[in-house]
Amino acid sequence: MPRFPADFVSLEAQAKEVLPWWIYNYVAGGCGDEYTQRENCDAFRHYGIMPRRFRGSQTRDLTIKLFGNNLTTPLFLCPIGVIGLCSLDLHGDLRVAEASARTGVPMMVSTLSQVPMEEIAAALGDTPGYFQLYPPKDRDLALSLIRRAEAAGFAAISITLDTWVTGWRPRDINNGSFPQLRGHCLANYFTDENFLKRLPKTLNEDLYAAAWEWANVFGDCLSWDDLKWIRQATKLPIMLKGICSPDDARRAVDYGIDALQVSNHGGRQANGGWAAIDLLEDVVKAVDLPVLFDSGVRSGTDVVKALALGATSVGIGRPYAFALAAGGVEGVVHQLKSLLAEADLLMAIDGYPTIAHLKEPGTIARKPR
Ligand code: FNR
Ligand code: LAC
Repeated sequence: MPRFPADFVSLEAQAKEVLPWWIYNYVAGGCGDEYTQRENCDAFRHYGIMPRRFRGSQTRDLTIKLFGNNLTTPLFLCPIGVIGLCSLDLHGDLRVAEASARTGVPMMVSTLSQVPMEEIAAALGDTPGYFQLYPPKDRDLALSLIRRAEAAGFAAISITLDTWVTGWRPRDINNGSFPQLRGHCLANYFTDENFLKRLPKTLNEDLYAAAWEWANVFGDCLSWDDLKWIRQATKLPIMLKGICSPDDARRAVDYGIDALQVSNHGGRQANGGWAAIDLLEDVVKAVDLPVLFDSGVRSGTDVVKALALGATSVGIGRPYAFALAAGGVEGVVHQLKSLLAEADLLMAIDGYPTIAHLKEPGTIARKPR
């Protein structure tokens, strides 16, 4: 018998049994009545892959190239700020890094990690990692985080644009729970001189004051102009996470950005209504850049649909957080392999031997609701 379920619903149920209630709700919940979060998943059902015959292939090729790296899969692990707490040993960042090393699926490491980014990078082995930056209001601190990401060997930096302030999350408000305000997942700040010098007392003397100072400095409300100094600050490829409009996508090209990420943060930030997958194709058409995608991916079928709509790489979010809770490193590896197996079989049966075949016109269509 397999140790872990192959479907998302059973996986979430298993995670709910083992996670402390405040962590489970933080991960599972989202903005407002969670309409956008549900819509992210439901909208995938309204796309269909056209079955093609007489082009079956005994093997499929799911490899991609991104930022000069040959990757064995078209998946990446989304940055999840509390992933450290989703592992029973409270070192979830390191366990996910191990799973990344074992599967070749790149990890996008959140600014909000339980251990410093350098330790996570060291656990990634030969798999490239990306550092996700929440640009703080303090530029010295922002620059320091960028320099540390470079020195740690990350292959690219992803700037998250939709979370300079946290969205309206009723589950967390009702529970009086926001993990970072209790000092969790702030290791990158607590190991940075540019943060520590802002504190009137040491961390040991007053952890809550430090967490409060983190809240003060956390999110810079960026303008396009700010993108200029971020671009100048590093030679690493820069991705913009949260681009959803073709106009924003085109404008990003003018600023020398290397890749975009269509994402609505899993419906955690704005309950705005649009499913992220419905916004992907227009962004892909607007630019000649790699476009990564996340928000609502729950199955290998979803992965194939996002690729067919033009995604270069597809981000897995909540499913791996629940897999980590249910089964540690083994759980995450199993989850990633299951998603890939389902995607691979769908491509086999429907006659798409490569990702390039999936991207040909006529592969995918939106069905009327
Ligand atoms: C996130 N996400 C996120 N994104 C980011 O850029 N930095 C972060 O620190 C976090 N933290 C975070 C915590 C938790 C608990 C979740 C569930 C998500 C958003 C994440 O990268 C991704 O965009 C969403 O998870 C995609 O939605 P689904 O597929 O998980 O529903
Ligand atoms: C999230 C970010 C703040 O919870 O980590 O979505």
